[in-house]
Amino acid sequence: AVPGKGNPKARIIFIGEAPGRTEDIKGEPFVGSAGKKLSDALAKNGIARDSVYITNVVKCRPPNNRVPTESERESCRQYLESEIDIIKPEIICVLGNTASNSVLGQGEITKHRGKIIEKDGKKFFLTFHPAAIIYNQELAATFESDIATLAKLVKHG
Ligand code: URA
Repeated sequence: AVPGKGNPKARIIFIGEAPGRTEDIKGEPFVGSAGKKLSDALAKNGIARDSVYITNVVKCRPPNNRVPTESERESCRQYLESEIDIIKPEIICVLGNTASNSVLGQGEITKHRGKIIEKDGKKFFLTFHPAAIIYNQELAATFESDIATLAKLVKHG
């Protein structure tokens, strides 16, 4: 399993989909090419990676990186809820459609990204999954501006 990693007092939690191959080997979330995109965007906006907490909807790598099934998500749901309950972040940043579907029951990242959504007394901020921006300059620019928005939201409380 690849558990979440980061600051137990983080003001931001990032939630991705599932560990990929590199994450499975290293036992840490977002340490492959998508992770590098996330780290770079954080660094550009003055957010130290070890100041936040990074996790995934499911904690084990699905074979061949397929999208996690409903029962896999269900098996891991309690872990994710506990991570959020213990850390009590100011903002939960949901990365991509799979995470958004699992956490908020809605996809359509393109429609809802870049702004705060309040649900069950928690604040969620949606943006693209960093893997989606690797070969798409337009999405990459939007992702970076979303992370800049997120950094400002946290700075100003
Ligand atoms: N993609 C994810 O959704 N999570 C990771 O940890 C790595 C890549």
